[in-house]
Amino acid sequence: MITFQADTLFDRRLGEYSFKREDLDKIHNLVKQAESNVLNDLKNGKRGFADIVSNEGLIDATLKLAKEISAKYKNLVLVGIGGSALGPRALFKALRHPFHNLLPYEKRGNGMNLYFLENVDPDTFKATFDAINDSETAFLIITKSGSTIETMSQFLLIRESLMKKFGENGYRERTIAITDPNKGSLRNIVKYDRLCSLPIPENIGGRFSVFSPVGTFPAACCGIDIERLLKGAERMRDSILNSPTWENPALKFAQLMYIAYTSYKRNILVIMPYRDALLDTAEWFQQLWAESLGKERNNKGEVVNVGMTPVRALGVIDQHSQLQLYIEGPHDKIILVIGVKEFRHTITIPKILDRFPDVSYIGNHTLNELIKLEENATLESLIDARRPVVRIEIERVDEENIGELMMFLEFATAYAGELYQINAFDQPGVEHGKKILYKALKKPGY
Ligand code: PA5
Repeated sequence: MITFQADTLFDRRLGEYSFKREDLDKIHNLVKQAESNVLNDLKNGKRGFADIVSNEGLIDATLKLAKEISAKYKNLVLVGIGGSALGPRALFKALRHPFHNLLPYEKRGNGMNLYFLENVDPDTFKATFDAINDSETAFLIITKSGSTIETMSQFLLIRESLMKKFGENGYRERTIAITDPNKGSLRNIVKYDRLCSLPIPENIGGRFSVFSPVGTFPAACCGIDIERLLKGAERMRDSILNSPTWENPALKFAQLMYIAYTSYKRNILVIMPYRDALLDTAEWFQQLWAESLGKERNNKGEVVNVGMTPVRALGVIDQHSQLQLYIEGPHDKIILVIGVKEFRHTITIPKILDRFPDVSYIGNHTLNELIKLEENATLESLIDARRPVVRIEIERVDEENIGELMMFLEFATAYAGELYQINAFDQPGVEHGKKILYKALKKPGY
């Protein structure tokens, strides 16, 4: 179970920056409208990110293919970028052993090794092939549009190399595509090359696709229990959709962020989990929040240039790097601390070196206590410095809780888009750069 705690925003210690009841009252109608717009878009099928978690047919097809591929190959190389990579990487880092690819098969709880090819950095591309034996490897190409240059250029390289080494059948056997069910170049190549594939439903965009095969297929291949992941996501979806407006946690999150931005000039959202396993989840949320909400124009076509800049930080590491700025720098940030109640392991610090009391006092405490106390100290020190901070608490880092968390954040982003009255599901700002690139590369039509 996850809980969103925001009473801290109303704490008197925040002084003039403390949120007030009137802040909420002022946007009462806007919030109601946002809630109903999101609901309508889900009901009329315009948005599919919430219903995908109960698409039994797709879940079965995903599990079946994952079973086939993981029975044949040891490694899976995922080629994708943006929403086609961040979700699966977040799941892998949160839910698998931190050294999954290095552990012997039995020790890591089964599952394929998983590697990611996201950037078009030639050295990383080459290094990945240095690390794997490609005869033991399957390649997963993910792109919703089917034509993303970074993904497709690496696909061309892989296709060529597999064809040469293993022939047409060998290439076909070890290549899987996840893309739009009908449109796009990768879908056409799937037909032409007769590749195995899974669809990304048309009404789900890249950064909202983690519960589609984009996230679930690689997760299932590396041993993550995707049924539990989707169960958690479904539970959160139902709780959001069945909550009265003022108790809906994702709507509350969106609303408070909107107030922070519009009434308290908080342009920066710092996402600070206190668990290493959640750093990639923070990166996933960073993209979701930035690309969805950073927009030039509102739904009426007026120039608004809105959007909070999401920044990821890691507790406790960034206490020794960024926290000084958060506490004493400009009053332009709101901090989201993500804490986890339970740990997989308890590690007690030995009570030794008594002759050095400045160090030995830590003995008999646990690392678990330490990280929790540090999280709490950061939270309190931020409030004392009149810095707004909210907290999401997760029971433990497991499939169900991560499913809940990611569904919560997807809904929060969709609601925030409605509050800003912008389209949270497009990204027109990045198109211009693509055109310049296509022109330089002489893509037909540019
Ligand atoms: O959220 C989005 O739509 C983008 O970040 C895309 O995921 C990213 O640009 C990659 O696109 P595609 O999946 O079409 O390759």
